[in-house]
Amino acid sequence: MLERLALENWSGPYDAGLKARALSALESGAVLFFPNLAFVLSDAEKRFLDASVSDGKAKNISLDHTTGTMQASALTGEAARELAAMMERFGSQAAGLVQELLPYRNVERARTSFRPVQVKDRHYSKISDDRLLHIDAFPSRPMRGRRILRFFANVAPHGARHWQVGEPFEDFARAFLPRVGPHPPGKSWLYDKLGVTRGRRSLYDELMLSLHDTSKLDDDFQKNSPHQRIEFPAGSCWLVFTDQVLHAALGGEFALEQTFHLDVSEMGEPARSPVKVLERLSGRSLV
Ligand code: SIN
Ligand code: FE
Repeated sequence: MLERLALENWSGPYDAGLKARALSALESGAVLFFPNLAFVLSDAEKRFLDASVSDGKAKNISLDHTTGTMQASALTGEAARELAAMMERFGSQAAGLVQELLPYRNVERARTSFRPVQVKDRHYSKISDDRLLHIDAFPSRPMRGRRILRFFANVAPHGARHWQVGEPFEDFARAFLPRVGPHPPGKSWLYDKLGVTRGRRSLYDELMLSLHDTSKLDDDFQKNSPHQRIEFPAGSCWLVFTDQVLHAALGGEFALEQTFHLDVSEMGEPARSPVKVLERLSGRSLV
């Protein structure tokens, strides 16, 4: 469930045995935990450890590294540029590490986020409450089977980020698939036409969104399904397939996160991907 890797450096080369262990654990649904790897902020950057850098509307401040556009920050001018530069430095270091640690050839670097608001104090509807166990699925960005891989750093000066992780994906999918209603065939076409989604959702996307929502709304599952608590201390990092690992963030402030997207064909064992598991369980093609 938690695979500890004693890396201290953001760049390799890393030991072949360590790389093999990382790949197998990650694809099996473990969280790769780097207790000795810290993303260090400069003294000037420490002023961003303040919830008021967020505009208070979105959960996270996000950065699109391809355009340099930052969203949901309350900062302007030089301060905004410096925050974006900090996020960019984190994102490129995370990308470098992923590239050296794992054998994947084409990892797409997607959004970088900064999460400056204490998780415990946030108030959201159940569907958007990440304090409830869930797998990640994007409502507006169809993945069509592609993986969601996320690298996190706890950059708080002190205090752990508290997570829960749940049962294996296949157990979860077996229990919830029969409860997911049919998806009207016209809906994905309409959403695409209306611009609700960027491109058309596949059946895989519809299923993953339904699994995400159904599990968050199920109080009994939230309370009684197998889960374990994990604490990621200040100054540590972790990497996880969040489309596969049931997770909930219960508390903590000041995390950075870099999202990667990956084709299933890049995996060492594609059969472990959510799309392949769901296709096997449902007996049909989903993308
Ligand atoms: C999530 O992906 O559900 C939230 C993780 C976090 O912010 O720690
Ligand atoms: Fe999540």
